[in-house]
Amino acid sequence: MSSQPVRIFDTTLRDGEQSPGFSMTQPQKLRMAQMLAALRVDVIEAGFAAASEGDFNCVRSIASEIEGPTICSLSRCNPGDIEASGRALETAAAKRIHVFIATSPIHREHKLKMSREQVLEQAVGGVKMARELVDDVEFSAEDAIRTEPEFLIEVFEAVIAAGAGTINIPDTVGYTTPGEMGRLVSQIRQGVGNIDQAVISTHCHNDLGMAVANSLSAVEAGAGQIECTINGIGERAGNASLEEIVMALRTRADHYGRQTNIDTTKLHPASRLLAGITGTFVARNKAIVGDNAFAHEAGIHQHGVLEHAETYEIMKPEDVGVQKSDLVLGKHSGRHAVSDRIKALGFDVENVDMASVFKSFKALADRKKRIYDADLEALVTGQAARGGPWQLSALRVVSGSGEEDASASVSLTHESGEVHSEESSGDGPLDAAFKAMIRATGLALRVSGLAVRSVTQGEDAQGEAEVRAQWGESELKGTGVSTDIIAASTQGLLEIINAASRQVNRQSPPREDAPARNSV
Ligand code: KIV
Ligand code: ZN
Repeated sequence: MSSQPVRIFDTTLRDGEQSPGFSMTQPQKLRMAQMLAALRVDVIEAGFAAASEGDFNCVRSIASEIEGPTICSLSRCNPGDIEASGRALETAAAKRIHVFIATSPIHREHKLKMSREQVLEQAVGGVKMARELVDDVEFSAEDAIRTEPEFLIEVFEAVIAAGAGTINIPDTVGYTTPGEMGRLVSQIRQGVGNIDQAVISTHCHNDLGMAVANSLSAVEAGAGQIECTINGIGERAGNASLEEIVMALRTRADHYGRQTNIDTTKLHPASRLLAGITGTFVARNKAIVGDNAFAHEAGIHQHGVLEHAETYEIMKPEDVGVQKSDLVLGKHSGRHAVSDRIKALGFDVENVDMASVFKSFKALADRKKRIYDADLEALVTGQAARGGPWQLSALRVVSGSGEEDASASVSLTHESGEVHSEESSGDGPLDAAFKAMIRATGLALRVSGLAVRSVTQGEDAQGEAEVRAQWGESELKGTGVSTDIIAASTQGLLEIINAASRQVNRQSPPREDAPARNSV
């Protein structure tokens, strides 16, 4: 078996982008391509140059600006498509033309209305034409999985003889199983006489939820390239997910014995960037990049992770670019996790009446889905949940169409009675409101994330906003719920502002009459 790294061919910007809900503008595609280069994918399929002027321009700009990966454009096996790909790729340092034609009987009869001989001739013609323009040509037998194996072998042998350096086996309709895929790759390795001159690739769709398993099975049988996408986006149920394939190969190196060139610490940022650009968030429980992938709420799990992370984690969060495991405090949390968080908040647990705090914690957790740092602090200090010192007493936002055109004016009232008012412009009303609020309090906070999701249904759905902000070395989180996204988000930030202000107060020397910090 090869010791070469498995090549990662990313088709987020082609197969992913062509699916409903995932279209991207040219600057967005370029931004995503920069991230894919930082991730160190081997090939970026930048688009289908002949599909539209927009697609052509996207491929051309990625070819001109991105260094590192090979830049690829898809083409049918006809002169117009191949020439468009060749022109769009002109400036790329490393370029590939990817030609395809369907080979299965159902596609030949109903879509192409072509015989086997005609398909074979067109496939070979397409590869030869592409080779006149570039040295690196990939051939895909669309719907390979439902193609007669002996015909597939005949086509692959002919296109390799014509100059294809990669032969791709697409499971276009997501129909195959891991066992079948492994056997097909072995059959191709044995049956295609000149297979040593080409890399075997797979391109699996996820209609039956087996795209990743099928791709990994192909690797076990000797495939050298996997086509996949960030967050598994792609036609219908999507393509094999890049992050899952890469982390399966890395985490189970003992089993697969193959690595990739991917910088895995960029997996989470790449997933977030794509979600932000397309406005489609990944499910919480999505492997590798979902919010819950490194979150633990059950008490037994939290205890285990605190003692030794490997008890419940097979990967390190920092290996995929997540700062640290998230011990979510809720009704399932145990005493260990609660006392650990109290310690992290700066309290001396030796002097906290943990039995009573834990009892109140459980009672609160029964009422509230998630317990945040501010709630826990309030329990320890005896303050009301989500208490001050700051209150948002006035907020006005105005939207605008250009950058920095939105503005906000806020007034925050401190428990001392002082009112701090500020105005700010921003890149959208929320950005302006956040800037004004932070400025009003004088805290060195930097908002690092915002996720909004609806928590009820219907036109007047309540939205929950989770705001994250960097506060020195730590990240603080706050939430707000409202039918108005701006109100929910500013509530979330206010919770963070109050948590940070209380920490500042704790760090300042205690007043003579103040109760000792450790005596709570
Ligand atoms: O799914 C498919 O068959 C494809 C090919 C064009 C590779 O996307
Ligand atoms: Zn596809």
